[in-house]
Amino acid sequence: MVVHVALTGATGFLGLRLLRRLLDTNRSLTVLAHAGSGDALHRITRFFELTGATEAFTSGLPARLRVVDIDLAQPRLGLSTRAFQELADGIDAIWHSAGSINLEGDLPELRRTNVEGTRHLLELAAAGSRRPVVHHVSTAFVAGARREGVAYEDELDDACGFENAYERSKYEAELLVHTWCREHRRPALVLRPSILVSDMPPHPELPSHPLLVIERILRDARGAADPHGPGRPRVRTVGHPHGHLNLLQVEHAAEVMVRLAGRTPSGGVDTYHVVHDRDVPVPTVVTLLEQLVPLSIELVATKPDAASALEALLDFYPGMTAYLAHRRRFDDTRVRSSLGPSATSAPVDLDYLWSGLAPPGRALAGSPDASVTAFPSARNA
Ligand SMILES: NC(=O)c1ccc[n+]([C@@H]2O[C@H](COP(=O)([O-])OP(=O)(O)OC[C@H]3O[C@@H](n4cnc5c(N)ncnc54)[C@H](OP(=O)(O)O)[C@@H]3O)[C@@H](O)[C@H]2O)c1
Repeated sequence: MVVHVALTGATGFLGLRLLRRLLDTNRSLTVLAHAGSGDALHRITRFFELTGATEAFTSGLPARLRVVDIDLAQPRLGLSTRAFQELADGIDAIWHSAGSINLEGDLPELRRTNVEGTRHLLELAAAGSRRPVVHHVSTAFVAGARREGVAYEDELDDACGFENAYERSKYEAELLVHTWCREHRRPALVLRPSILVSDMPPHPELPSHPLLVIERILRDARGAADPHGPGRPRVRTVGHPHGHLNLLQVEHAAEVMVRLAGRTPSGGVDTYHVVHDRDVPVPTVVTLLEQLVPLSIELVATKPDAASALEALLDFYPGMTAYLAHRRRFDDTRVRSSLGPSATSAPVDLDYLWSGLAPPGRALAGSPDASVTAFPSARNA
């Protein structure tokens, strides 16, 4: 039986890698592209060209990909009643990877895309006569503002609040998936990746990874606060010297997700933490940022009283800097017991991160990473 898959967010940082994996096993696919956001087929083709696909592969893409323009934020995804129903009836599985990952976005804007968008996608799945399976891409950061301890795959609550509106919107989207599954007696897969990274150098035609956004914010703040000032101003920011963050190679995350989708569903909501088995120490992230932006970052326990102009500017981005104080771990027992040791990925270290962030030809100064020990995951802790 031919299974027809539809994918949202296929032009995104993760979605492009999911698409690559899904094309390994699906002859054709429906791409639910962001209406009015540029030629999706062209952007997808450029990704494959830039990542070494053969001419034969890229020239075959127009015949393999059916592009349907949608807007997640609109009822019926912005489609006519008839087009919506035809789309729903033609699919067996929906991968929902589209979303807004704006860590500094406001809640109403994030809800439109992430929560209402998920609602509309679930309505599509409910309408489909072939009862399409839903694969929902969430985030490990639905764990919210709990900065210590262990976050488990079956947990979903707002007891600790959230570091930013993005986390809250993703939490609310997951709640919708649970309600939908109960009401429709349908299974769903919820995939919760941690922070996704790549060692592929930045390219203007490709979506950038989240740390690059942080680098741009720091650079802009540095330029605005002190355009002609001394070389490397000091900035104090709240963080923990023993903090650590989970960063995972985006290619590996996509592979794990597609493999998890091949498992027999339990019948309810199957939730998986798609995370690295070793966290990256916060000091490594700080070193990385200091090498990218001419700043000297000092981690402090509490917000400084007399903030400099630069510190005041960075204070506008609390949803981003909060992560420097994180020391929690994500338990991924379900992934490990489903996929075994093959779910383990290569180390993410300073060299790897530098490759994916630095302007072409700029070398990493020294090798401070050598002195920093990686933290074990929840499993090994
Ligand atoms: N990146 C990470 O580190 C990370 C970590 C954990 C979880 N996640 C989750 O993974 C998913 C994908 O993230 P990503 O990194 O691939 O993000 P991304 O690079 O920003 O891509 C977002 C995708 O969503 C599409 N999109 C945005 N608004 C839309 C709308 N209104 N209607 C239809 N499509 C829309 C975008 O299309 P255009 O490009 O055409 O606008 C793009 O294809 C998200 O759900 C995110 O929450 C990401």
